[in-house]
Amino acid sequence: MAIKEIIKMGHPLLLEKAKPVTEFDTPELHKLVEDMIETMESENGAGLAAPQINEGIQLVIFGYDTERYPDAEDVPFTVLINPTIRPLTKETEDGWEGCLSVPGMRGLVPRYKKINYKGFDQYGKPIDRDVEGFHARVVQHECDHLIGMLYPLRIKDLRFFGFEDTLFSE
Ligand code: NI
Repeated sequence: MAIKEIIKMGHPLLLEKAKPVTEFDTPELHKLVEDMIETMESENGAGLAAPQINEGIQLVIFGYDTERYPDAEDVPFTVLINPTIRPLTKETEDGWEGCLSVPGMRGLVPRYKKINYKGFDQYGKPIDRDVEGFHARVVQHECDHLIGMLYPLRIKDLRFFGFEDTLFSE
């Protein structure tokens, strides 16, 4: 396993569409997943998309090991490949987001409250879940990375975008 460098906003790969994974359960894919897990944990992230470590493929990881984050909202640790998202409601809600590619910043982002997401794990096993709340937000954030979308581009009112230590200082 290895901790990879996370590329930051401004890098052109973060604005590109990622390519689908065509082969599952390969040593290369397993190594990439392990590296992503180690990289995400080293930064205490809630999610990481392959393009953030300069791999332009449709692979994201997210969620928490509950031993590590006992107070975190319930988002099971998930490896999600070639995902599709379908909103289950038109309703959106605003929530604060951050991103390891936009370090130190937070922004208020509208996301669908309930979604269905489908995809595969690293073994090619299908995933099909209806989720809401923070789980739905994390999936929408991570999957946005696969279409070249970063959360600051989704902020409706840029007054609600700033440095984390200043925004939440009180
Ligand atoms: Ni992100």
